[in-house]
Amino acid sequence: MLETNFMGLNLKNPVIISAGPWNGNGKKLRNNLRAGAGAVITETIVSDPYSKTGEQIAFNGKGLQNIRFYSRFQLERWKEELKIAKSDGGIVIASISGHSPSEITYLAKKLEKYGADGIEISLSSPLGEGVEIPCSDSEFVFNVVNDVSKNIKIPVMVKLSQHVNNISEVSKAAKKAGASAISAINTIRCILGVDIDKEIPLLPTYGGYSGEPIRPIALASVASIAQSVDIPVCGIGGIGNYEHVIEYIMLGASAVQIGTALMLNGDSIIKKIVNDLEKWFKEKKINSISEICGKALEKIKPLDELALEPMTCKSDNKKCEEGCNLCVEHCLENAIDTVNDNDIKIDQEKCIGCGLCIFVCPINKLKIYDES
Ligand SMILES: Cc1cc2nc3c(=O)[nH]c(=O)nc-3n(C[C@H](O)[C@H](O)[C@H](O)COP(=O)(O)O)c2cc1C
Ligand code: SF4
Ligand code: SF4
Repeated sequence: MLETNFMGLNLKNPVIISAGPWNGNGKKLRNNLRAGAGAVITETIVSDPYSKTGEQIAFNGKGLQNIRFYSRFQLERWKEELKIAKSDGGIVIASISGHSPSEITYLAKKLEKYGADGIEISLSSPLGEGVEIPCSDSEFVFNVVNDVSKNIKIPVMVKLSQHVNNISEVSKAAKKAGASAISAINTIRCILGVDIDKEIPLLPTYGGYSGEPIRPIALASVASIAQSVDIPVCGIGGIGNYEHVIEYIMLGASAVQIGTALMLNGDSIIKKIVNDLEKWFKEKKINSISEICGKALEKIKPLDELALEPMTCKSDNKKCEEGCNLCVEHCLENAIDTVNDNDIKIDQEKCIGCGLCIFVCPINKLKIYDES
């Protein structure tokens, strides 16, 4: 039911563990496969590993900043690590990054030889002071993907970032160059906060923001990519439960990746998400991922169509026992009033159907209706 063919790879379920330190060696990769992941992606492998250690992570209870610079292992070490990772079977994708097509292709060829089932090219990390990230440049993306895919037989996925303001164009360039899939998003450039007593930022340089708060941003990127290209999309960002996985699938993703939630909760979260997904599919009598893939994407409307649909707000039952008055205080159009001991009165001339009162009402008393 959850099995899916993702870029030519047969996954037992669509839950992939993303590139990061939780997949930093063979044992960790194997462990995440044992915990039930459909596939795992190595921490990004580069030709010139960064050896500095020190503070790399800050968390504010909601989102997380990291300034970790990829795998610290030399490329050759990954021969042994991939062997360990694959010792029980399962699908292992190697994440790679670099500065030029030839450098990235060299890594891809080696990792194919070492046994990787696929390659993810990560061109989207926002760490450090530079705001320019390589995947902003469609021509560079084309050249890298073209070179890599001409030189290896295993599938190539390209990992993009929300920072790309031409995400449709970059996605099309990746597809044209031979990418089998696109994944999005990487972390978002951030400074998590400032210690105001010490007068210092929480971490000493710009880093990448991940976890729960980035999901709405990532959902939009995934939807834009899915609207632009017809190759599979892998949704990443803030996934912490099965409902989040379904959201991504309904917006056009064929598979998803999880990172921060695994780091914060441990590998039991993989099993929980996969089991809950299976249960939901059974309850809804859905037989395959393709049955729901893109269902919500079809319903995204162009902005100018929205003006044609006048909506208005009504209270199902005029009397409100709660009487908290939040709807009255929040309505930006001054359309709501309470009269006669908490009778809710909505001025239909003033109400523009914005929906704000519905979200502030603690008892779901108000509803939006199509005016027609
Ligand atoms: C500590 C940390 C290290 C990461 N390392 C990598 C990496 O090596 N390569 C990569 O492409 N993405 C890396 N990422 C990004 C994640 O794979 C993922 O794209 C991002 O965190 C959003 O997903 P999440 O909210 O589920 O974590 C890292 C993220 C974190 C938090
Ligand atoms: S839908 Fe918007 S405009 Fe209408 S009553 Fe509610 S808050 Fe006011
Ligand atoms: S926000 Fe809801 S509960 Fe509060 S007064 Fe308005 S309708 Fe009643």
